[in-house]
Amino acid sequence: MTRARILGVGRYLPERRVTNFDLANMFETSDEWIQQRTGIVERRYADEGVYCSDLALEASREALKSAGMKPGDIDFIVFATLSPDHHFPGTGVYLQRKLGITDIGCMDIRNQCTGFLYSLAVADAFVRIGMYKRVLVVGSEVHSSALNYTKAGRDVAVLFGDGAGAVIVGPSDDPSRGIISSHLHADGRFADILMLEIFNISKKPYITHQTLDEGRQYPKMVGREVFKMAVTKIPEVVHEALQASNLKIEDIDLFLPHQANLRINQYAAQQLGVPEEKFYSNIQRYGNTTAGSLPIALSEVLEQGLIKEGSLIMMVAFGSGFTWGATVIRW
Ligand code: ACO
Repeated sequence: MTRARILGVGRYLPERRVTNFDLANMFETSDEWIQQRTGIVERRYADEGVYCSDLALEASREALKSAGMKPGDIDFIVFATLSPDHHFPGTGVYLQRKLGITDIGCMDIRNQCTGFLYSLAVADAFVRIGMYKRVLVVGSEVHSSALNYTKAGRDVAVLFGDGAGAVIVGPSDDPSRGIISSHLHADGRFADILMLEIFNISKKPYITHQTLDEGRQYPKMVGREVFKMAVTKIPEVVHEALQASNLKIEDIDLFLPHQANLRINQYAAQQLGVPEEKFYSNIQRYGNTTAGSLPIALSEVLEQGLIKEGSLIMMVAFGSGFTWGATVIRW
């Protein structure tokens, strides 16, 4: 079976920087609290009127350029987000329209911080079975519109930022290069630990003035539970991926962990016995960009020359659902 490989990578971060000090001017928090617990220094916010698909468009253009392709070369779009342009239709079709193309299939994946890994696995399978040859995979988020900038929402508001990343997945002409394996998990028993419950379809009508007054349009999170599970599941899935690929931890040249909290990643790296410099982090500059986080990180490490042809990388993510996963790639 043909192996699939990432042929191009792009990212887009909105220009507007929002520091911890800016947030401290909006509600009761401090730079010290945020940095100590999360490592975050600043994040980017999209301007009023900017959609999730707009950030995705910029990242996709860059990915296409780096793959030497035009929008018309793409034959399928997989779009990962938890902050879609609208409740429906999916954001993939808006991106397709903005790219100026028609007809090709578009699929939205709603798996939060693990959304990019799920999407990459779908693209990998499509390419390996020969169904599609140029799959655009995008992770994009505009979190800044849906955060509660008061004391009641500060635990979540300080964590998230806006941004997008994109890759093009296609057949590899060298069988030793490409996506080696993907390991995807979920445990719905923890679905309510981190959620946005405004769309409660069991209620008739499903949104009321009361639900808005109660602030149900904002995400709610039991932070400690997320933290505890993340530091358990990340090392677990890393070992699973290593074992399945017959690799040792030292074989991995660079880990690209989802950027949810620097402390989670430091703790996970320590448990795995991986030096911090092999566990990439950029959360200091962007906060948690959820589905965008991994392709943004990938785009940066390529630019910085941290990975080159033949490098072994492992992406690993954990997030709401709970969902988690790991993907091994020979670059
Ligand atoms: N600024 C100042 N104080 C705050 C803030 C804030 N932004 N947020 C909470 N506090 C206060 C709380 O009110 C509480 O005060 P109290 O003791 O007077 O009641 C105190 O700080 C401690 O609150 P905790 O929630 O217990 O703080 P904790 O040490 O657990 O840190 C944090 C919170 C940083 C959110 C941590 O739990 C965490 O990172 N969890 C993981 C979160 C995560 O990764 N989420 C994203 C998942 S990815 C996805 O799928 C979307």
